[in-house]
Amino acid sequence: MTSQSEVVLILDFGSQYTQLIARRIREQQVYCEIHPYSLPLEELRRRKPKGIILSGGPASIYAPGSPRIEPQLYALGVPILGICYGLQLTAFLLGGKVARAAEREYGRAQLDLTQAGSPLWKDVPERSTVWMSHGDRLEVPPEGFEVIGRTAGSPYAVISDSKRRIYGIQFHPEVVHTEAGERILRNFVYDICGCRGGWTMRNFVVEAVGEIRRKVGAGRVVLGLSGGVDSSVLALLLHQAIGERLHCVFVDNGLLRQGESDKVYCTFHDRFHLNFERVDASEQFLGRLQGVEDPEEKRRIIGEEFVKVFFSSAGEFDFLAQGTLYPDVIESVSTQGPSDTIKTHHNRVPQILALDRQGRILEPLKELFKDEVRRLGAELGLPEEIIHRHPFPGPGLAVRIIGEVTRERLETLRRADALILEEMKASGFYRKVWQAFGILLPTRAVGVMGDERTYGNVIALRVVESRDAMTADWVDLPHELLGRIANRIVGEVPGVGRVVYDITSKPPATIEWE
Ligand code: XMP
Repeated sequence: MTSQSEVVLILDFGSQYTQLIARRIREQQVYCEIHPYSLPLEELRRRKPKGIILSGGPASIYAPGSPRIEPQLYALGVPILGICYGLQLTAFLLGGKVARAAEREYGRAQLDLTQAGSPLWKDVPERSTVWMSHGDRLEVPPEGFEVIGRTAGSPYAVISDSKRRIYGIQFHPEVVHTEAGERILRNFVYDICGCRGGWTMRNFVVEAVGEIRRKVGAGRVVLGLSGGVDSSVLALLLHQAIGERLHCVFVDNGLLRQGESDKVYCTFHDRFHLNFERVDASEQFLGRLQGVEDPEEKRRIIGEEFVKVFFSSAGEFDFLAQGTLYPDVIESVSTQGPSDTIKTHHNRVPQILALDRQGRILEPLKELFKDEVRRLGAELGLPEEIIHRHPFPGPGLAVRIIGEVTRERLETLRRADALILEEMKASGFYRKVWQAFGILLPTRAVGVMGDERTYGNVIALRVVESRDAMTADWVDLPHELLGRIANRIVGEVPGVGRVVYDITSKPPATIEWE
């Protein structure tokens, strides 16, 4: 919330770890925000940050066009912590010397403290493992700085000017391989910046509820509730704020998993007593999908139909609520071109753009990371089963049925999918992976069952681990579990004769098949 009384600002120079820094700081119950390094100084001052963190980044300080900040930043009197590129930039701007290291230092290194009394080192061991990833290194610290830690490859790995409260560290405290990383970030925000903490989900609820009430007044809010984590958490939060004036519309597009529609109904209508409307539009969706094989065309039709059904069911409303999360709104300092965020397609819908222009979109989760949304869900009493659900695409099983979507093929995939989930849950792997699902292929394969030759469908099994869906890797499940899933699918799902396991990572593949 913009009303946060204390905030630490992270200026992003394009590091792959920037969001991780933010999450680590928030785990310390201190609210922080990520902004591009180019955030105007005026704007930064207006936010009255308790501290500023300069992230790492892929650039070399001497490369043409390397990202810079205004040196006046260092005169604001606000504590500053530069990490990796942030350290090099700080040293460079304050008169130190940075040069290309003889060898790129990557991976684990041993950090030795040289000034154990520094507030940055409270409860940090004299020697510990840290994670390095840099090409340039500091050769001469700027005036007024002392060296407070070193590694074999970086004699000036950590520097500080304790008077001006400016700190620079070459390694990455935000990654788990840095043993004392959490402690170091905690020391910075509490002991050096003087933060008081208290950014908890409980406090978030109080503030968010207040803010929603202020904004909505006596108005009505409509929400498309899919039963996924984000919209479910959002529904409970809004319900707590405005009760009956929240109208939840759940569109059953006929492309959901087995039993899903009833489960969502029971949870939100029967159990939480929300003003909840289920719209069964499956006939409409499946009718329009008849004969369509092209994946893009399927998505287009489903998107179009959804907007039609949703807005015609929404009735009169003043605000539309959306489950936008923080990673969707961070302005990324990308060095590899635009990053592909999952939800961007929602925002291209003309109706939504029009509402946005009128200031009628509510996005109360837009400051939260996914793990925080899960904690918020727990705080609001959302069942565990929903809190830990795997992501499920809006177009549903249609993107997991390669080729035409028919009732029969939907039924086949639904049954296989239900068995996959059952086995994943029973083995405890469901909670350990990002997604696990089946795909129905448009091909058949020969088999023998009893004395008969069969010609059955093929199900591909996809199980991946990921942190944010941008990259993913296939999971090396125990062979015994893979075997059991395959046996059960072939044995229990009529018409399926073969199961294959997808062992491709993202990139080059995507998580879904279409
Ligand atoms: P891909 O297949 O692009 O998927 O690697 C990344 C993540 O996004 C989910 N996904 C979607 N979610 N509508 C959604 O709401 C979609 O059209 C869609 N396509 C993919 C996918 O399940 C994965 O978590």
